[in-house]
Amino acid sequence: MTTHRLSTPPSEARNRPVTPWWVDAVIYQVYPRSFADADGDGMGDLRGVTSRLDYLAQLGVDAIWLSPFYLSPQHDAGYDVADYRAVDPRFGTLEDADEMIAAAHEAGIRVVVDLVPNHTSSEHAWFQAALAAGPDSPERARYHFAEGRGEHGELPPNNWESTFGGGAWTRVTEADGTPGQWYLHLFDTSQPDLNWENEEVREEFRSILRFWLDRGVDGFRVDVAHGLIKQPGYPDADHSRMGMVTDAGEDADPTFDPDTFEPLTPFLDQDRVHEVYRDWRRVLDSYGHEPMMVAEAWVAPLSRMFRYVRPGEMHQTFNFTYLMAGWDAASLTHAIDRSFEQAGRVGAPNTWVLSNHDTVRHASRYGLADPSSYPAGITAEDEQPDEAVGRRRARAAAMVELGLPGSAYIYQGDELGLPEHTTLAAEHRQDPYFFRTDGKEPGRDGCRIPLPWAADEPSYGFSTPADDDGPASAAEGVAAPWLPQPASFRALAADRQVGVEGSVFELYRRLLQIRGELDLGTGTFAWSEHHDPARGVLAFTVTSGGGRHLGSGEPIPARTVLVMANLSTDPVDLPTGHSRALFSLEEAEAVQDGRLAHDAAAWLLMD
Ligand code: GLC
Repeated sequence: MTTHRLSTPPSEARNRPVTPWWVDAVIYQVYPRSFADADGDGMGDLRGVTSRLDYLAQLGVDAIWLSPFYLSPQHDAGYDVADYRAVDPRFGTLEDADEMIAAAHEAGIRVVVDLVPNHTSSEHAWFQAALAAGPDSPERARYHFAEGRGEHGELPPNNWESTFGGGAWTRVTEADGTPGQWYLHLFDTSQPDLNWENEEVREEFRSILRFWLDRGVDGFRVDVAHGLIKQPGYPDADHSRMGMVTDAGEDADPTFDPDTFEPLTPFLDQDRVHEVYRDWRRVLDSYGHEPMMVAEAWVAPLSRMFRYVRPGEMHQTFNFTYLMAGWDAASLTHAIDRSFEQAGRVGAPNTWVLSNHDTVRHASRYGLADPSSYPAGITAEDEQPDEAVGRRRARAAAMVELGLPGSAYIYQGDELGLPEHTTLAAEHRQDPYFFRTDGKEPGRDGCRIPLPWAADEPSYGFSTPADDDGPASAAEGVAAPWLPQPASFRALAADRQVGVEGSVFELYRRLLQIRGELDLGTGTFAWSEHHDPARGVLAFTVTSGGGRHLGSGEPIPARTVLVMANLSTDPVDLPTGHSRALFSLEEAEAVQDGRLAHDAAAWLLMD
């Protein structure tokens, strides 16, 4: 197949409805702490992102989504925001953000920023004011403050638990030194939940949206989008009804009623949360550059998850059912089928994702004895993934993900085939999830390791010495990265992969080129006659084109790509009748005696 980037006619030139950019966008998640460090202090920053935009342009992504870079005490790696309109000095300045946005646009890359509406940092001015103001004040009404139970209010208001372990309520000491009310935090104690019944909270977030839209951002990834509304009166969660689901289907989320799919948790996926997004949608629609919103809503029943992308609400929602299906043909088939079915019901495009900053990297998950298992983290005491097997499967999985119509997310480092750091010592761990569970849960640090850019440089080229009055100079060298990198990162460094035939990076680049060239992202999906999940074979076709050029009236031929992945242990027959083929591995390895090898995938252009 051709390896150079073919110019794809803009959608306006096609005889089909104009497609907004996000419908089929490939969006690359930048985790700013760990992407690139331009000032040598061991932590990534915005100027680091700007300095590597050429790499992202080479890769061929349409947009980047940046995890939070706002002012924050960093108790949850920036998901604890102290000021939504300021950049944390660790990451740079507002000017650096403006420059990054402008440079990305110059490179043809759109910019999506993270928005954290469920909670602020406890250092946010509003929370500090709430502590000072005392019970029944308008300042406390912006958060969830409640009296405790028990004779002296010594028990929390209800039995809700924090996602990071332990109770979800913390008692404050009032100004007179006495133990006082309790406040709700679904995450860390440093992340008090905002009260979305409060109009001031709603107005503040409309204003924050406008602040970043005015600076030119192209969208928002909405953190914990399903958590904003809590049931009035804070009723106990009925744990007795949870975990009773026996059917292991994809909708079997124990926090939802197995019959009605209504949420059993009084603070997740409440109906009224959708009001908020309909309101935000009006704000976004008042801007002319097609800004979008994508929901981070860990809602397993897909019929509930797709409610976030009904007309007039969000544009996209992350498909975690697909992410969690693992390397298993039956689960993937189920996830794909149900996603198309439910997306079709609301008229929204699908999104596909394999990893992010909260999950064990898929190149490692797929290297476990059970490649569909989903551990919350991996330590040196746990089963160690087989890195070669995991990477081989990850290459094939990229061909499935990027072959599917819709929008696809790439987590930084996926394109290098990076594994999880599975032996990170406890002393390096920083995730509050680790601390709040007394180390029982390893937490998410293993997927957040700084990227390797150059195999032979300190910190594998992650940090570059500041060239001016930054914290380091060329003579001083660079600080150690904020999390140590495993030795296996060296051979996977970007400078060992870019331009190197057969590398994971070149595979991704080629897939994105062809995806654009053939317009696969807006194509039509169908399972192929070769699809056979019982035998570990995924096979589907994507057909695109078939219209007429709007300007010249010339016909645009319909083209069909057959995507096939072999998840079994044996080779499987490869269909014939294609004019071009691309494989997840070198052809000699992927095709044996005309058959597709195990854990390999193919894109076949059928003529
Ligand atoms: C989301 C983020 C995660 C964070 C949590 C609390 O799940 O992705 O990293 O810890 O929200 O903000």
